[in-house]
Amino acid sequence: MQSESHRRVLDSADFCRMLAEEFVHRAAEAIEAHGRFRVALAGGSTPKPLYGLLAAKEFNARVAWAHTEVFFSDERCVPPDDARSNFRMAADALLKHVPLPANQLHRMRGEDDPALAALSYRQELAAAFRTVSVPRFDLILLGLGENGHTASLFPGTAALREFLRSVVPQYIEAQQEWRLTFTRPILNAAHQVWVLACGTAKAEIAQRVLEGRFEPEVLPAQYLAPVAGKLIWWLDAAAAARLAAVATE
Ligand code: 6PG
Repeated sequence: MQSESHRRVLDSADFCRMLAEEFVHRAAEAIEAHGRFRVALAGGSTPKPLYGLLAAKEFNARVAWAHTEVFFSDERCVPPDDARSNFRMAADALLKHVPLPANQLHRMRGEDDPALAALSYRQELAAAFRTVSVPRFDLILLGLGENGHTASLFPGTAALREFLRSVVPQYIEAQQEWRLTFTRPILNAAHQVWVLACGTAKAEIAQRVLEGRFEPEVLPAQYLAPVAGKLIWWLDAAAAARLAAVATE
């Protein structure tokens, strides 16, 4: 098996709707295959409209939430009610509005000591996936930072070279804050990894990551290469504007 990489360029108006439809499809596929849909949500602002649409009447009954487990691919080390919290953003936009059983929601404890929070999340992953090896997600959602970071894998940080632990704490100088982040092993073990990028502000970095020189220590999103899974770049027309090859499949 080898990694597949796809690009899907969507008109901005259709972006969230297409993504919501694909999310519903991925969930149904996973539940059909092994009775569970395990998804890790992305933080930042890009996924918020998608979460809102998934919470809306049109979609919220189309995901079998009773068979879904929700995790996070990274978190800021802040309390869950902090405006910077990825959990808070996802809870306000989606999780408070769908019937996800409480014991199937796996929050990264940003309020705890970063090292302890990373350790307890690794333990929580092991218990939820009933495995001592690398958990294999049905879907991991990610964003793309303007400096090429994804999750909280920032350029030049030690987390980029972590191969033993699936979740680590990482101090981010540029943001002056501690983060918890998935590392390359767990990201690249997933069945599907979706990177969402919208807007003109992401056009240059999308072009550098997708078509520029391979320099993943500088552009960490270039490390994304699911070993036996699919990597899908979801770009709206504005974010894809500088791509030469806009192959959409
Ligand atoms: C975070 C995310 C981060 C985000 C990118 C893009 O915690 O902020 O994990 O990787 O996805 O920075 O952020 P926007 O979607 O806000 O542009």
